[in-house]
Amino acid sequence: MEDLNKENKFFQDIYDNDKMVWLGQNTNHFPTYEAIKSAMIQSIMNEDYHKYPPPYGLEELRALILQDLNLNSNLTVHITEGGTESLYQVTRSLLKPGDIMISSDPGYYVIHRFAELSGAKVLDLPIYSGDNDYKLTPEMVNEVIDKRAKMLTLVDPLNPLGVSYTPKEVKAFCEIAQDAGIYVLNDVTYRDLAKSHTLAADFYPEGTITIYSFSKNCGLAGLRLGAHIATDTLLASMSEYKINDLGTSIIAQVAGVAALKNKVDWLPKVVAITAENQLLIKNAVDKIEGAFLPVYPSHGSMMVIDISETGSTPETIADEMLRRGFFIRAASYTTRRFTDRYVRVSFSVPTVQVENFTAELLKLF
Ligand SMILES: Cc1ncc(COP(=O)(O)O)c(C=O)c1O
Repeated sequence: MEDLNKENKFFQDIYDNDKMVWLGQNTNHFPTYEAIKSAMIQSIMNEDYHKYPPPYGLEELRALILQDLNLNSNLTVHITEGGTESLYQVTRSLLKPGDIMISSDPGYYVIHRFAELSGAKVLDLPIYSGDNDYKLTPEMVNEVIDKRAKMLTLVDPLNPLGVSYTPKEVKAFCEIAQDAGIYVLNDVTYRDLAKSHTLAADFYPEGTITIYSFSKNCGLAGLRLGAHIATDTLLASMSEYKINDLGTSIIAQVAGVAALKNKVDWLPKVVAITAENQLLIKNAVDKIEGAFLPVYPSHGSMMVIDISETGSTPETIADEMLRRGFFIRAASYTTRRFTDRYVRVSFSVPTVQVENFTAELLKLF
């Protein structure tokens, strides 16, 4: 009880601090595109919020997401309160006690935790090595797959490392999954930041569940809006675990519609500024003896700085930076084995904030 309150207080303090530079959750802090804000204001003025929205989302938003992913119209979109809700529903409904979910370490451990709630065992394969380009490989998956395997989780681009998979790799993962008759959970939360991106659903539509989010690309994290996409058959088998029977916030969905309709106007700027910001961080890290970037450029809105040879620890650096007004994450949030190796820093914030961050970071070494 006490710990949960402490955790909430930690986040409340960061939230309340207007000067805090938010590099700890990969969220997007660029000014919101005007049409997105106007759509929300209009919806509030119309008092749209008196009605419960349709349970699986506004038809227009569902169609726009399918179009955005350029996916076959045989697949269906279910709108949720963020990728998180989708991840919960997928892992709780499709995994049973004794099943195995194959994933990576480092990785997005929220998914692992949800899978374990279903009684599944998570095989978090260690990928923190240049030998395999800090990626999961089809060979690694082949080596561990057995009759108990039920799901392969591909977070692409991967939080925290920012690696992304080539079309050849995605195809190979899908073939393995298809042959073994297991699901592919393809979390594409950071897809829009990637130089290029391949969806597992393009190769294996009948067994893939794609997780979609509005939090990192256009900065709607606080509105809590996401989706999952799969075949109707798969979605029906997940329906028992649907959380929001009465639909997802109408204001958030209206914002999502405006975001997708205007994507060509705001996304290129997000991509350009994040690329510039990453370079600033790289230039700073190059000056720190013993520190390096395992993955550069990152295909996400975050990167990992390896500090294991600097004589400092991830916790010390994260605490020290927080004291100086910069929220970043120690490794332990995204790894079980490599907790002493890195800090994770996101860079989808105005460039001046990244400049201030790098200046302060250099003072620590
Ligand atoms: C891989 C991944 N999936 C999902 C989420 C959460 O997405 P949402 O804000 O849509 O719940 C995150 C947030 O950090 C993430 O890194």
